[in-house]
Amino acid sequence: MTIKKLNILLGVSGGIAAYKAPDLVRKLTATGAQVRVVLTESATQFVSPLSLQAVSGNPVSTDLLDPAAEAAMGHIELAKWADILLIAPATANCIAKLAHGLADDLLSTLYLATSAKVYLAPAMNQQMWFAAATQANLATLTQRGIQIIEPDSGEQACGDTGPGRMPEPQYLASLVTQPEAAQVLKGKRIVITAGPTREAIDPVRYISNHSSGKMGYALASAAKALGAEVTLISGPVALDTPAWVNLVKVESAQQMHQAVMLAVAETDIFIGCAAVADYRPVECVGQKIKKHNQELTLTFIKNPDILADVANLKGAPFTVGFAAETQDVSHYAKDKLQRKNLDMIAANDVSDRTIGFNSDQNALSVFWKDGEKSLAVADKGQLAMQLMLLISQNYNEKHA
Ligand code: C5P
Repeated sequence: MTIKKLNILLGVSGGIAAYKAPDLVRKLTATGAQVRVVLTESATQFVSPLSLQAVSGNPVSTDLLDPAAEAAMGHIELAKWADILLIAPATANCIAKLAHGLADDLLSTLYLATSAKVYLAPAMNQQMWFAAATQANLATLTQRGIQIIEPDSGEQACGDTGPGRMPEPQYLASLVTQPEAAQVLKGKRIVITAGPTREAIDPVRYISNHSSGKMGYALASAAKALGAEVTLISGPVALDTPAWVNLVKVESAQQMHQAVMLAVAETDIFIGCAAVADYRPVECVGQKIKKHNQELTLTFIKNPDILADVANLKGAPFTVGFAAETQDVSHYAKDKLQRKNLDMIAANDVSDRTIGFNSDQNALSVFWKDGEKSLAVADKGQLAMQLMLLISQNYNEKHA
């Protein structure tokens, strides 16, 4: 993925979704962009300028008449600096001010003074979103070439249900930095497995592995952000469920296998990201094993290979696997691609402790029948977006 270095001015107005602003800044800077942040006065009640200064690495402006800020970079200079002005969240009040050309604070003044491409991510109560005045203001701004980013629908902070939630930061970051990528998976159904499995030994013990599930969950978020309908089949993890993903929780490899086989019909893309236990104890004994003996011997039996079973289904979806290797990554990954009859495989070197299992970062080498691509070390969210875009490209080529 090639990313042009952009100057992004992020305007944050005073809605509850402003708490997502630091994460949004991180996702924007992770694309290689320079980010400067402007807060309205009410936004400072929801998120601190200091946090945003720390994550953006630049001073944060809040006041039109602040002599120190003006001396550093005057508001007209800031308006000219920006390639993109993203206002997220944009409250109903902020939208009304922009539609009517008011310039009574720094953000509304910058909006009038900039020639940058402007994106608004409205976020508000669903009734305020539907209000005739808000819709008329949005229509005016659309007519003037401002891009309105549709809010997500669902449960709102106030308890209402409906449109008005600010979309995920990763989605906003992809949309403004790579507008061509947005919604490339619209209407596609994707099933992703994530996390470890637990194989029971007795009622209180199990064997498992160190998978945190972070990569699979990041892939689910990225796929959702690109417009897909996502089912995430997850082993036990300590992660929040990404917004608007259909989550199926399982424990063992056999349960995961069953859940996948149920979910995978009519699926366009299957991604096996879970660290499925290769073996399970032949039996899970009914009572807790007592420590009477010096030695304990357990007999294991092989678990079903979920990925291979999906890849070999009649009318199989586009199937993507992962390979965690400690040596000869490319050799073993290519072998697995062929042996399991996959469309793509993403391999990582788990001998490097700074990436992969349990870490927030990863690096991947991705292989398919007649191509390969290295995705350099990056935050798992950023890497997941790059991988989803690559998967979508290959999926489209296969179905062209
Ligand atoms: O053969 P290996 O376990 O190294 O393959 C890893 C890939 O296969 C991963 O994508 C993993 O999710 C998948 N897998 C699976 N079911 C298994 C074992 C691995 O789906 N029982």
